[in-house]
Amino acid sequence: MRFDVITLLPELFAPFLEAGVARRAFADGLIDLKLWNPREFAEGNYRRVDDRPFGGGPGMVMLAEPLSRCLQAVRADRADAPGQAAPVVLFSPVGEVLHHAAVERWAASPGAILICGRYEGIDQRFIDAHVDAQISLGDFVLSGGEIAALALLDAVARLQPGVLHDAGSHQADSFNPAVDGLLDCPHYTRPEEWCGQRVPAELLSGHHAQIERWRRDRRLELTAQHRPDLIAAARADGLLSTPDEQLLARLTEAGAP
Ligand SMILES: C[S@@+](CC[C@H](N)C(=O)[O-])C[C@H]1O[C@@H](n2cnc3c(N)ncnc32)[C@H](O)[C@@H]1O
Repeated sequence: MRFDVITLLPELFAPFLEAGVARRAFADGLIDLKLWNPREFAEGNYRRVDDRPFGGGPGMVMLAEPLSRCLQAVRADRADAPGQAAPVVLFSPVGEVLHHAAVERWAASPGAILICGRYEGIDQRFIDAHVDAQISLGDFVLSGGEIAALALLDAVARLQPGVLHDAGSHQADSFNPAVDGLLDCPHYTRPEEWCGQRVPAELLSGHHAQIERWRRDRRLELTAQHRPDLIAAARADGLLSTPDEQLLARLTEAGAP
């Protein structure tokens, strides 16, 4: 899998490549990551990559031409087989908000060319000519697409086989459709009592079935409280058992949303 990132600030990526769990995916070559700076494809002494917006208004807009030359260089370097050209993805508030199902698709894909905007954004003509998909991180405005690119790369990296020490770890994570798509349960570690709060007795019982039922109930409870849409989806997919439905009915009777 190969990701190429087009960014005016490639230095933002180095710390991420050198630390934490995701580092393994890049160090072990599971993900080939290449960084490209459009400034290196700009002309003139100042290697200008932005200019004022037509029509006036605040801020600057990224020029289409350096981006276009940079993209050409990426394409030449990738040398993708005919008909298998990597998709070009732009991070933008315009895009579909990133969610687990999309991350899973990217994690199983051959990769993509990711473009990070800066300033007021990118000349629309470049977007119309070259961009295949747009991804948003949420309904807020970042100063650049780099954090969005890092979020996608991190989420994709941790799904690569061997990246997490415990292969079962992401099985139990929130949003996993292969399990139930629900939120994860709360977690506790030592000491057994902290600031007057004790770890739930079930987790200390050593009784496997009891622990699993406690975890399942907390997943259901948390999800019903914070993301009832995920409960509805799990029900529609037939992923809720009779004990699950009994717990949800008790929560509703007790006045939970
Ligand atoms: C300051 S923002 C531009 C915001 C733009 N003028 C607007 O209001 O929609 C600069 C760049 O940050 C990135 N960006 C900002 N918010 C984002 C979000 N929610 N998700 C993904 N990328 C984002 C985009 O690449 C964008 O071109």
